[in-house]
Amino acid sequence: MASPPGHRRVISWQAGLLLAFLMCCCCCCRGREAAPASPSPSSKVPAVIVFGDSTVDTGNNNAIDTMLKSNFPPYGRDMAGAKATGRFCNGRLPPDFISEDLGLPPLVPAYLDPAYGIQDFARGVCFASAGTGLDNATAGVLSVIPLWKEVEYFKEYQRRLRRYVGKAKARRIVSDALYIVSIGTNDFLENYFLFVTGRFAQYTVAEFEDFLVAQAEWFLAEIHRLGARRVTFAGLSPIGCLPLERTLNMLRGGCVEEYNQVARDYNVKVQDMLRRLTAARPGLKVSYVNVYQNMLDLINNPATLGLENVEEGCCATGKFEMSYLCNDIPKTCEDPGKYFFWDSFHPTEKVNKFFAKKTLDLCYQELL
Ligand SMILES: *[C@@H]1O[C@H](CO)[C@@H](O)[C@H](O)[C@H]1NC(C)=O
Repeated sequence: MASPPGHRRVISWQAGLLLAFLMCCCCCCRGREAAPASPSPSSKVPAVIVFGDSTVDTGNNNAIDTMLKSNFPPYGRDMAGAKATGRFCNGRLPPDFISEDLGLPPLVPAYLDPAYGIQDFARGVCFASAGTGLDNATAGVLSVIPLWKEVEYFKEYQRRLRRYVGKAKARRIVSDALYIVSIGTNDFLENYFLFVTGRFAQYTVAEFEDFLVAQAEWFLAEIHRLGARRVTFAGLSPIGCLPLERTLNMLRGGCVEEYNQVARDYNVKVQDMLRRLTAARPGLKVSYVNVYQNMLDLINNPATLGLENVEEGCCATGKFEMSYLCNDIPKTCEDPGKYFFWDSFHPTEKVNKFFAKKTLDLCYQELL
């Protein structure tokens, strides 16, 4: 596959930024308080169960040895008590809003957070890990939790759940839960196009898309075998429009169109796979979340949500910072409500709430 002109230059820019990011690594640990336990209202959905990457990680990376963390200010600035929980956001993530809307707790606890136990996880649990991907090699880049291990945690969770509520009730929680899966961006932006894992040399981009879709199919078949029945699966966003990618594209300006094209091609393949998979498994429902369209609608019509900046993040310069580089230097914006992006990679809480609403509408139409 021929590289477009300037492509190698883009890669070395990205490698340079990754290096800067790695060098800025420092250690920061904060205690967490237990969320108040509330009585369980009867609800059609007994629990929300989350798999994926930073778009849905509610704090698992706090507990592992990686530099990809966000459990320090200004992250969490708009959370209750301004608590930095490890969510890559100023506030809550889509699974939190979805859980709350379903009558479940307003925060989905991270499975590795010692402040929570099986009594909390029985109503919602998150196995996601920032920086991970469908490809095992992606999780290796920043030493985060690979997807197969998220599945192992899910198995362990089920054993704990059976001990806690009994076999029959555990089976019902697992089968009636709403599963939220959001993953894939890092496979391209942290792995393939960053040239750090060898995948670039091993596969053409089309072959890599096929490889990722096969991994997604394996994952969905596996959680179905383990009892999942109602799943939302997010497609890729216009990944070339993330502030970091726009910054790397400074020579030409604007979104990186070849990355957006890859996202569209991958999304078509994912939807074909989902049709095949669910046709062969009548008990399984998987709704495809069109994140690409949802994000583009907002970028093209920011005023519908009162947004004024859809190109830069709110924290620091907004051009390339995330994790430890997202600090108040030089300064964090006054009003994240005017921004699409919180850091150079992740949406603000306001946008997450909008995405949650879109996913919920889909769930009510197709799954619940
Ligand atoms: C990913 O790693 C797991 C654990 O080592 C392994 O079982 C699985 O086969 C790997 N997947 C691929 C596609 O190599």
